[in-house]
Amino acid sequence: MKWIYSVSLAVSLALQPALAEELIGPHPMNAQARDAFVNQLLSQMTLDEKIGQLRLISVGPDNPKEAIRDMIHKGQVGAIFNTVTRQDIRAMQDQVMQLSRLKIPLFFAYDVVHGQRTIFPIPLGLASSWDLDAVSAVGRVSAYEAADDGLNMTWAPMVDVSREPRWGRISEGFGEDTWLSSQMGSTMVKAMQGKSAADRYAVMTSVKHFAAYGGIEGGRDYNTVDMSSQRLFQDYLPPYKASLDAGSGGVMVALNSLNGVPATADGWLLKTVLRDEWKFKGITISDHGAIKELLKHGVASDPEDAVRVALKSGIDMSMSDEYYSKYLPGLVKRGAVSMAEIDDAARHVLNVKYDMGLFNDPYSHLGPKESDPQDTNAESRLHRADARDVARKSIVLLKNRLETLPLKRAGTIALIGPLADSQRDIMGSWSAAGVAKQSVSLLQGMRNATAGKATLLYAKGANISDNKGIQDFLNLYEQAVSVDARTPQAMIDEAVEKAKQADVVVAAVGEAQGMAHEASSRSELTIPASQQKLLAALKATGKPLVIVLMNGRPLTLVNEDRMADALVETWFSGTEGGNAIADVLFGDYNPSGKLPITFPRSVGQIPLYYNHLPTGRPYNYAKPNKYTSHYYDTVNGPLYPFGYGLSYTRFSVSPVKMSAKTMPRNGTVEASVTVTNTGDRDGATVVQMYLNDPVASVSRPVRDLRGFKRIMLKAGESQTVSFKIDVDALKFWNQQMQQVAEPGTFNVMIGLDSVRTQRAQFDYL
Ligand code: BGC
Repeated sequence: MKWIYSVSLAVSLALQPALAEELIGPHPMNAQARDAFVNQLLSQMTLDEKIGQLRLISVGPDNPKEAIRDMIHKGQVGAIFNTVTRQDIRAMQDQVMQLSRLKIPLFFAYDVVHGQRTIFPIPLGLASSWDLDAVSAVGRVSAYEAADDGLNMTWAPMVDVSREPRWGRISEGFGEDTWLSSQMGSTMVKAMQGKSAADRYAVMTSVKHFAAYGGIEGGRDYNTVDMSSQRLFQDYLPPYKASLDAGSGGVMVALNSLNGVPATADGWLLKTVLRDEWKFKGITISDHGAIKELLKHGVASDPEDAVRVALKSGIDMSMSDEYYSKYLPGLVKRGAVSMAEIDDAARHVLNVKYDMGLFNDPYSHLGPKESDPQDTNAESRLHRADARDVARKSIVLLKNRLETLPLKRAGTIALIGPLADSQRDIMGSWSAAGVAKQSVSLLQGMRNATAGKATLLYAKGANISDNKGIQDFLNLYEQAVSVDARTPQAMIDEAVEKAKQADVVVAAVGEAQGMAHEASSRSELTIPASQQKLLAALKATGKPLVIVLMNGRPLTLVNEDRMADALVETWFSGTEGGNAIADVLFGDYNPSGKLPITFPRSVGQIPLYYNHLPTGRPYNYAKPNKYTSHYYDTVNGPLYPFGYGLSYTRFSVSPVKMSAKTMPRNGTVEASVTVTNTGDRDGATVVQMYLNDPVASVSRPVRDLRGFKRIMLKAGESQTVSFKIDVDALKFWNQQMQQVAEPGTFNVMIGLDSVRTQRAQFDYL
């Protein structure tokens, strides 16, 4: 048996591609050998053992360690989630090997969504980098750390396209755009799975939440999703498909209903689309407790019925409920579920275990006991350089009046705000096995950046919220948010006092991480009132005001935009967040992030997304007409559009040049622009290419992202950027639900955001 020891490998994987390459050696998967092995194994298994493989459990009050030991003994459990150290994982795998009849290894899974021990920016932040190499580095490091902890599978990537900023889980996805989310999701899958999920430092991905969870009504978590087939296939399904085409071995099924049918009970979705049309061969896993929830959804009459419906609809493995184990034996006995159906589900579980290499070596992600880290949270196990690099790239500069930024490392700077000194919030939701005290707060980052050069003053200035209900909500399960006992006025007075002594004020405001999480839907998207009052008081000092936002969703920032001299969106930027933000504030890194999602002016504008359809009555601002599509109390457009983000330098984009006026049937055409850095600093930007089909058999979006390139230009430098357009870029689902590209004239728009673009045309013959 060959062990690859991991202790010395806490180095930058992103910076050492050769090393990363070596870690993920080739493992050609032989499907025939796998089928033969799994069939042989199935033939030896009892019905109970097969059903046992379908059960995925989490150790906790409902399933204490002793109970699990007993279940393992009886072959009643297939996989474990939420156990995250080698020691704990080893103990359970030992039990399988020592106690169970067939010694079928368990696999171990966890929500490694944006890092395991090292926490990277939340996915919405990762998407803001528009940098697939950076996303790939995140995937590789996360998989490395997860596998080094003994894990085999992650519940990621989350590729739920969403136009619903009220939904807290929008923070976990890659934003509103289908194409961008597809690129990000597939990149993450390839990076995490490497060449084979069996490799020492790879984990299998489980793309989620299938399907269309991001389309929930009103942004209220777990709510209904209802949409046309065109919208589903055009806008919501492609990122899952792209992630599966990239090889994801798992699919986690959504909790919501889709067009009236809960995804967990949707045989059309899980069998016709996923298996028959998309040829998915991996495993489907229900989300937490979803089989039980079929009763509340009103599609099952009793628990046994729920189990029958779920299994027959294509759910292989059940997460966190005992229903499969309890009711499947009876259902098989009376013929309501066939042995072939049980075999299919069990086969999918065994197949992925085979693909994970567990039958070769159940300890493949554990190594020998002596190699276990003495300290799971040892500093040497973190990948800080990668975290800082990616975090800098995820930051979006929204406003920079009179070049307020970058700040000088001189004089006095006042850092104010409830998020300035929070090590917990900066990690964001789903921070896996990250440890708050290892993350760098903005206060620490700015201290590091200014030490010996400038005076840094700090005051909290306000609580995250003064609303007791919200404070209690945030602190329901852990003391996540510390509430200062002083009066709001006393906190503001202290902050104003500090601000008055400073040359510039930096205010770190926004949301606590718990405000943008699962089950954290909001009906307002404002910065909480306590922080708004603080900002107004800071503004009244007359000092230049830099607002640093930390949040997990688009917020409505009309007032903040008005007040701020500079406004920086940092999302929740992870373990190295404070250093990365300081890098941007002091100009050690020139910001290059672009919004992967529209920022509305008010909640009433939602849904507001860049690739909307035209209407029959478009509003014309130059020639207003009452009977056209608009609000009379606000403008139609967003505060910050999709794709938007500033730099400390300026770029110009030339008119678009087409390689030809026509694109032949199934051929290609190329569109190019020359981008020039016209400022006096080096900088990166993202060139974006949008297409529009102005006349088709169905209305097509005013523009749709179909390409992007992140480029780095020295001051004064120019670069030609070309985009190849092929027939796939023109295709859409027509009314007959066929995917077609219709001949006609197309518009190509290229620019540095979705609004200010250069335009050209070509004809598709
Ligand atoms: C979430 C999933 C997550 C699972 C396991 C569920 O509540 O919806 O996204 O993977 O819990 O933690």
